[in-house]
Amino acid sequence: MPAAVLGGLGTYLPPRRVSNEELADRFDTSDEWIRTRTGIRQRRWADTGQSTGDLATEAGHRALKSAGLDLGADVDLVVLATTTPDHPCPATAPDVAARLGLSRAAAYDISAVCSGFVYALEVASNALLAGRAQTALVIGAETYSTILNPQDRTTSVIFGDGAGAAVLRRGEADEPGAFAGFDLGSDGNDKDLICIPDGGSRQRATHQEPGDDGRYFTMQGKKVFASAVRRMSESSAALLDRVGWPVDSVDHLVGHQANVRILRAVAEQIGIEAARAVIDIDRVGNTSAASIPLALAEASSAGTVAPGDRVLLTAFGGGLTWGSAALTWPDITAC
Ligand code: ACO
Repeated sequence: MPAAVLGGLGTYLPPRRVSNEELADRFDTSDEWIRTRTGIRQRRWADTGQSTGDLATEAGHRALKSAGLDLGADVDLVVLATTTPDHPCPATAPDVAARLGLSRAAAYDISAVCSGFVYALEVASNALLAGRAQTALVIGAETYSTILNPQDRTTSVIFGDGAGAAVLRRGEADEPGAFAGFDLGSDGNDKDLICIPDGGSRQRATHQEPGDDGRYFTMQGKKVFASAVRRMSESSAALLDRVGWPVDSVDHLVGHQANVRILRAVAEQIGIEAARAVIDIDRVGNTSAASIPLALAEASSAGTVAPGDRVLLTAFGGGLTWGSAALTWPDITAC
């Protein structure tokens, strides 16, 4: 039976490390508050002039290398998940595809905030299963540092910049690396919980006055926390049921790195021991659409995941959106 198979994984983090101590100098916060409430010790922020597309191109290049492919390889589809595109128009994916020499590929962005990478995996997988593509490059890339409100200590301490990319190819369901299934969902009734109010057609960008904060990312943290735990747990359970994986057969839970307390709560709700939850939020913060591929690459490089292991991905983000994916781990080296 045909399936989408993970064939390569690449990541890129901007070099600038931002420690909790640095933020404590700027905001009314402390290393202790950030660590105990979120699990974050540091994050990376892009330098001025370094865009989401720049990060995505680096990660995409490394994913191609990991899959044994060169720049300009025969890739049919590039899907870029991001909340922070280079421009409101056009999409960032065609530019990234061109910079990777993939000018023949269909290329578009997906906007599902922190669930974006799982959404992008699903659409790429569908294209492969339908025979519309043989090889796809799926990227999650973000520069949240460009949309954080410098007056808002709650969001400013959480988010980091980065990019992760995966090469998917059409293969067989019994191969290591094969995706067994997906579960996606949304609830737009809670769209205001995570939002950038201005700059779209509802509230157009205007000349900004001091204190006019509508251009910045906003989040109602407490309500988002509760929804994130509920939706990721429910989505994971629904997917495991659909693909017929008993919960104790899951070797690794790779959840969206929103908050270490959320990750622990999701593992507990699903019934997966906390030690099986992959965690790298301490080093990179919440990188939204880049979070899942960065955590996967970290687990792969650390030797935490081994070929044939069962891996459950689950994410939650603005929209609200959520999504889960199940795959067996392939024999690849992340670059
Ligand atoms: N430093 C010190 N104090 C702070 C900080 C800070 N950086 N931020 C908030 N506080 C204070 C608040 O002002 C509040 O003070 P008060 O009690 O005097 O009013 C207190 O800490 C508690 O605030 P809460 O918001 O209740 O803190 P909470 O424990 O909920 O942690 C957090 C906040 C970390 C944002 C948490 O709610 C969270 O992680 N939410 C979920 C985030 C998430 O899941 N995001 C995923 C989706 S994101 C996306 O899609 C892009």
